Amino acid sequence: MEVVRSVAEMREIVAGWRKVGESVSLVPTMGALHDGHMSLVHAVSEKADRSIASIFVNPTQFSPSEDFAVYPRDEARDLSMLEAAGVDLVFTPEMTQMYREGHRTKVEVQELSQLLEGETRPHFFIGVATVVAKLLIQAMPDIAIFGEKDYQQLCVIRSMARDLDLPVEILGGATVRESDGLAMSSRNTYLTNAERTLAPRLHHEITSVATRVAKGDPIEIACKDAANELDSAGFNAVDYVAVRDAETLEPATGGRPMRVLAAAWLGKTRLIDNVAV
Ligand code: PAJ
Repeated sequence: MEVVRSVAEMREIVAGWRKVGESVSLVPTMGALHDGHMSLVHAVSEKADRSIASIFVNPTQFSPSEDFAVYPRDEARDLSMLEAAGVDLVFTPEMTQMYREGHRTKVEVQELSQLLEGETRPHFFIGVATVVAKLLIQAMPDIAIFGEKDYQQLCVIRSMARDLDLPVEILGGATVRESDGLAMSSRNTYLTNAERTLAPRLHHEITSVATRVAKGDPIEIACKDAANELDSAGFNAVDYVAVRDAETLEPATGGRPMRVLAAAWLGKTRLIDNVAV
């Protein structure tokens, strides 16, 4: 497995693969890898001849009050997991490779970036879309995969790739969960024991919303009940519980696939999750 820290080195290796007609996949990550990340690595391993994983904790998607400085980092462990999974190249760029002095360009997917997550984290999807656009242009993979765990992020990236005519197929990977239903996340390590016990309630409540809405219960009541349940269970704040059009994330209108999405705080940790209706 090659570990490269510059765009030029990665491009040289990818060019060698291209020359002999090999196809390429990319799995972007911020490291602190868990089985959710690895499921994406495995999902693309059969779909392309060569695989790249990137590890880059992207500062532009964190606001000054968020956890950039303390975000979990364990490169040695990440590299051994990726090597065991048969990844061909790991791109762990230096900060100056991604954001040179004087970097001024931002990629913004309008509307989709402002709702749900965007309401409390307006900076977030601009940072994500910018860094993912850069990674895709740097590596030029045939396919790239993102987790449904971050469902709105997947929607934003699909729109961005389509709008910018990036010649890449964007795939979604199913959410990997702990045995009690909690969606795996690098940030779950922030949870105290008591919070960890409560955390699966989020998945439980959105699943109940999905079941009720599928049966024909009014969306607004199902969402409000779920938010109240989370509140009384001991969640500190519920940012949203919503049922949205699965593609546009606009309020659901019926007759089209729907998604239940939620974000809630347990102590200092913000959890997000989503399920299909
Ligand atoms: P990160 O949180 O490290 O996640 C990397 C990829 O793993 C994302 O596509 C995410 O949706 C996916 N993922 C995380 N937890 C998952 C789970 N439990 N099941 C399935 N997939 C899961 O998301 C990011 O990094 C960044 O925003 C990034 C896209 C790398 C841009 O900086």
